Amino acid sequence: MVIYDNHARPINYLRISVTDRCNLRCFYCMPEEGINYLPKKELLSYEEMERMVKVMAKLGISKIRITGGEPFLRRDLMPFLRKISQTEGIKEIHITTNGVLTAPHIPELKAIGIKSVNLSIDTLDRENFKKITRRDELPKVLHCLDELLKNEIAVKINAVVMEGKNIDDLIPLAELSKNAPIDVRFIEEMPFNGEGNHYPVLLWTHKKIVALLMSHYPEMYKLIDAANSTSYNYQIPNYKGTVGVIAAFTRSFCGTCNRIRVTAQGVLKTCLYDDGVLDIKKLMRQGATDEELTQVLLKAFRNRAKDGYEAEQMRTTQGTFMESMSTIGG
Ligand code: GTP
Ligand code: 5AD
Ligand code: SF4
Repeated sequence: MVIYDNHARPINYLRISVTDRCNLRCFYCMPEEGINYLPKKELLSYEEMERMVKVMAKLGISKIRITGGEPFLRRDLMPFLRKISQTEGIKEIHITTNGVLTAPHIPELKAIGIKSVNLSIDTLDRENFKKITRRDELPKVLHCLDELLKNEIAVKINAVVMEGKNIDDLIPLAELSKNAPIDVRFIEEMPFNGEGNHYPVLLWTHKKIVALLMSHYPEMYKLIDAANSTSYNYQIPNYKGTVGVIAAFTRSFCGTCNRIRVTAQGVLKTCLYDDGVLDIKKLMRQGATDEELTQVLLKAFRNRAKDGYEAEQMRTTQGTFMESMSTIGG
């Protein structure tokens, strides 16, 4: 079964944020202090998430990405991953993690068949990592990267590009694609940091990031991107991996967007930039049947904003983005 939205886009990819908690404090994601984490009862339970996955799999969801916060902070994540990997219709599971607590789980991730892991690394410089994430955890993250490679789990690196913070780190990060099959992606910063816009205009657009890469790697060439790819990807000749840019703020890939999200508090977002279109947790806890859930989900899928700009217009909290990426999961 394939469900098409009201803009003829198939929907097959669900992103689930399993916790809003994080062991880092990335500048672009959260304020240093004063974060109010959700009480446990406000999170979807594993049973609720499993039920939601079953219902959505019947609606054509076949790919799941687990995000946070930091997903490995949620207790008993592994049995949950195993369970959803066995759900009929679910063909691939991916994880986005900061890599601090991930390494010990890698053999089991491999055994479960997790298809790939996206690791957030904004700099390879320990001091700068400390400044950006406000925690001294780079060695653990790099160990995780090594272990992923050793276990032959596909890995992408996400680096948010920030004026005054990590511009000198971009080429060293791109160099990670030289000797290993790593896809390094540079991301435009978005305003989901619990505080709103950091800049009046975005300085490091995807075009400017590509120009910087091009000036360093004049022979870099464009690859044909996978359908529904968020990144525009490039190859540096003779490098084993690739480099890419994600126009997350410019929102130039909305036309092929196949993904929906469920936040840590169990709210459905049919666009990253909307402020939530359906309270799945509330419906479940009020006793909705699978059939009732199916019907409201279908209605939401058929009412999607055409792009991130329209979704932004439709926000009830217009113009302000006070939510943190840690509840949305990216
Ligand atoms: P795959 O396509 O499965 O590789 O996942 P991904 O690259 O979309 O996921 P990941 O969690 O690694 O996210 C990388 C960056 O892309 C994050 O900053 C996300 O917020 C951003 N991103 C992912 N999906 C969307 C989207 O639908 N819209 C926008 N604007 N940005 C997105
Ligand atoms: N802008 C862009 N990307 C962000 N991420 C977190 N916050 C932001 C933001 N404000 C990225 C992280 C992570 C992914 C899930 O989202 O780097 O890799
Ligand atoms: Fe944690 Fe990810 Fe947010 Fe960084 S971006 S604070 S790693 S949830």
